[in-house]
Amino acid sequence: MSLPSFGARSGALELMDTQEPAVDELRGTLRELGLINRRLGGHAVTLEGMEALLPPGLRRLRVLDVGCGDGEAAAEILVWAESRGLAAEVHGIDPSDAAVRLSGERTRPGLSFSRRNLFELPPGEDYDVVHAGLMLHHCPGASASRALSAMHARARLGVVVNDLHRHPLAWSGIRALTRALSDDRFIRHDAPLSVLRGFRRPELEALCRDSGLPAPELSWRWAFRWLMVVRR
Ligand SMILES: C[S@@+](CC[C@H](N)C(=O)[O-])C[C@H]1O[C@@H](n2cnc3c(N)ncnc32)[C@H](O)[C@@H]1O
Repeated sequence: MSLPSFGARSGALELMDTQEPAVDELRGTLRELGLINRRLGGHAVTLEGMEALLPPGLRRLRVLDVGCGDGEAAAEILVWAESRGLAAEVHGIDPSDAAVRLSGERTRPGLSFSRRNLFELPPGEDYDVVHAGLMLHHCPGASASRALSAMHARARLGVVVNDLHRHPLAWSGIRALTRALSDDRFIRHDAPLSVLRGFRRPELEALCRDSGLPAPELSWRWAFRWLMVVRR
């Protein structure tokens, strides 16, 4: 097995970015992604970031989940917020039709979803916290800093990004795991590629600097995740 280059973010496109899967296929893909998220600490990373942004005495919390997929992270955020005694609303957006049909199956007060692109939200639609879980690496090149700016502009408290560390061990690990355990074509193709589209610490710092945002609080978390909090 020859190792790909880890020097710069890969510009290769993931299947998820180029093909609109049928709802049932996406359901299987996102169920496996959810399993990876739970087993490899993904949601815990998100909730740690949310916790870091809560000011003392806050009673209400409105969260935007960008690239919500099947809505699992949005639902986890809502449960966490309610367990903290907050009156919470979490709204997930995703441009994928199939994703929004799936997320719409999660009916719960405080949880809502719409088929929208981050870059097309109307002016004035603001939230307390904007979260992006495994979404930023889908933004190629300079669009990643535009995405971060767009999220920051709508966040009264700050932005929480949960994304992948581009590292040879992460790539070989997820490639071996998904080849051994998954028949899903999106997972087998996209999971290792998403690592190659992931980030190194200086790149995330540069995204904030280039967008004129405050310096991020960056923490590395198992397994090969970055938790990035950008305060207002
Ligand atoms: C890998 S999935 C992550 C789903 C979910 N957040 C999770 O952690 O399981 C990335 C999602 O980001 C969405 N996405 C990509 N570009 C987007 C944009 N510009 N605005 C909103 N969502 C976007 C994709 O459609 C896809 O559903």
